[in-house]
Order: sequence, then C-alpha cells, then structure tokens
Amino acid sequence: MTAQPHLGGTFTFPGTDISVNRMGYGAMQLAGPHVFGPPKDHEAALAVLRKAVESGVDHIDTSDFYGPHVTNQIIREALVPYPDDLTIVTKISARRGADASWNPAMSAVDLERAIHDNLRNLGREKIDVVNLRIMFGEGPTEGSIAEPLTALTRLQHQGLVGHIGLSNVTANQVEEGRSLAEIVCVQNLYNLAHRDDALIDALAADGIAYVPFFPLGGFSPLQSQALFDVARDLGATPMQVALAWLLQQSPNILLIPGTSSVAHLEENLAAVILDLPDDACAALDTVGTGDH
Ligand SMILES: NC(=O)c1ccc[n+]([C@@H]2O[C@H](COP(=O)([O-])OP(=O)(O)OC[C@H]3O[C@@H](n4cnc5c(N)ncnc54)[C@H](OP(=O)(O)O)[C@@H]3O)[C@@H](O)[C@H]2O)c1
Repeated sequence: MTAQPHLGGTFTFPGTDISVNRMGYGAMQLAGPHVFGPPKDHEAALAVLRKAVESGVDHIDTSDFYGPHVTNQIIREALVPYPDDLTIVTKISARRGADASWNPAMSAVDLERAIHDNLRNLGREKIDVVNLRIMFGEGPTEGSIAEPLTALTRLQHQGLVGHIGLSNVTANQVEEGRSLAEIVCVQNLYNLAHRDDALIDALAADGIAYVPFFPLGGFSPLQSQALFDVARDLGATPMQVALAWLLQQSPNILLIPGTSSVAHLEENLAAVILDLPDDACAALDTVGTGDH
C-alpha cells in the first residue's frame, strides 16, 4: 500500500464547478430487500450515511425509485442540514410496481414527476446531477433518447436540475445525448467481471465522468479465485482489490460502491490506498474470462 490522495483524489465534472472525491457512495443498499420498502435496520442505514460523510465522502448516488422514496428520505433524515460540498446524483426514468418490479417511466410527465419526487424526498431545491436512466432493455439498447432528454433539459432550464448524465446507454446514445445537452457523466454496468464497455476512454478524452454501477458485482458480489488470490497476496480484501482495480483503469472513473454496513463502508473507503502492481493486474485479467 502506498500513500494516495484522500479518497482517491478529486474529479471535476466538465463545464461545472462541482468537484468530488473519486471514492463516493451508492445508496441503493439502504432500502429493503429487492430495493423495495424500508431497510431492516433504519438506524444502521442512518449510521452508514453519516459515517460516509464524516469520512469525507462528498458524492452520493441515489434514486427516488429505491424504496421507492425510502432511500431519499433516509438520506434527508441522516444528512440535513446537508454539507455545502455534498453532491447528490439521482436517476430517473423508472417506476416501481406494487410487486417491486422496475417499469419504464420516460414520458415528459413521468420525468417531471420524478424530479419533483426527488426534490421533495431529498429536501433539496435543485438536484445537482440527474442521470437519465435509459429503460429500452435490460442492458444498453439502441434507440433515440431525444424525447426524454429534451424533456429533462426543460427541467434543467427551469432550475430544478443542475447537470445531466446518462445511464445504461450505448455509444450512439452518448453521441446523440451530447448533441442535445451538456453530459457530465455516464453510469453503466462495469466491474472486474464485466469489462465490456468501450465508452470509458472516449469519455475520459473529453473529461466526462464514467461511474460504474455494480462496482462490486451488485446483487451477486464478485466471486473469483484470481481475485481472492490477489487479495490474499496483497493483504487486502477482494472487494478492496475490485475497487482499487476500477480506480486504476482510468482517471475519469468515479466509484459509488453500495453497502448497508458501516464495517463494509470503512473497508471500501480504505481501498483508495491500495496500489495494484502489474503482476496483480495481469492476474486480475483472468477474472470474467471463465474464472468468474
Ligand atoms: N444506473 C443504474 O442502473 C444503477 C443500477 C444499480 C446500481 N446503481 C448505483 O450503483 C450503486 C452501487 O451498486 P450496488 O450497491 O447495487 O452494487 P455493488 O456496489 O456492486 O455491491 C453491493 C453489494 O456488495 C456488498 N458489499 C459492499 N461492500 C462490501 C464489502 N466490503 N464486503 C463484502 N460485501 C460488500 C453489499 O452488501 P452489504 O450491504 O452487506 O455491504 C451489496 O450486497 C448503487 O448504490 C446505486 O446507487 C445504479
């Protein structure tokens, strides 16, 4: 382990005055099972958020469809009055069914309602960054995003939204999005075992943040012998190695690992001091190629 900048150093979203530490926190795990309903331990959820901010986390990723509403209400309860330097990033475009299903909700009316839900439940007058989460298919699926993105830019012009990002998108959709709005970040599925996203380098060249979701594997945290071996050799945990690997991939990668546990939060934040040598990176290249 070598000395590294605090929480991975900072990143400034392009064309904005918003700088965040590269190690942030994703709040999805604070809702109940299946991201639905209240958490089993409300006090523990508050404690995780307070510990994150106390530890220097200044970037929290959320959505009003976690719960729904629950996660944002917990963020508000835990953190109001919000620190001046806290950036909250939310995502819109889905509605939860009574059976916990995730349903597309991308009409202009849906998006406006979602922004107001986020503002009310978070207790903010403006959302710092809003990701338009494309719901055309389970993963990135081609199709024009002009209609929902234009609706979102109208809400931005009304002053309800600071900056815009995209989520679950293809390269073509990023290109189309950038012709219609200033895109400051992209949030796609990416981790040690799912490396199939050619967007990172292109976005890095233009200073746009790439924020991998499921950085630890999501609902099934990463399981890989190569990962376990590297972690053991470095005296770190597998999750720390997975996060350090992401940080080393590109300077525009920002992390939002999710956890409902203070102990896991502390472990994850400590990953910023882990330096992966070349032989460890080579061993990790086998993850996701049949090893996982
Ligand atoms: N844009 C999108 O479509 C999208 C989709 C999914 C998620 N997201 C965002 O991405 C964020 C991160 O994703 P995620 O939370 O779903 O998945 P994740 O960060 O990849 O992994 C979370 C899982 O890992 C476990 N975990 C966390 N730290 C651990 C540690 N140190 N040791 C062992 N287990 C650990 C958590 O359980 P414990 O609670 O027990 O720690 C949880 O089961 C979310 O919070 C959300 O903000 C966005």
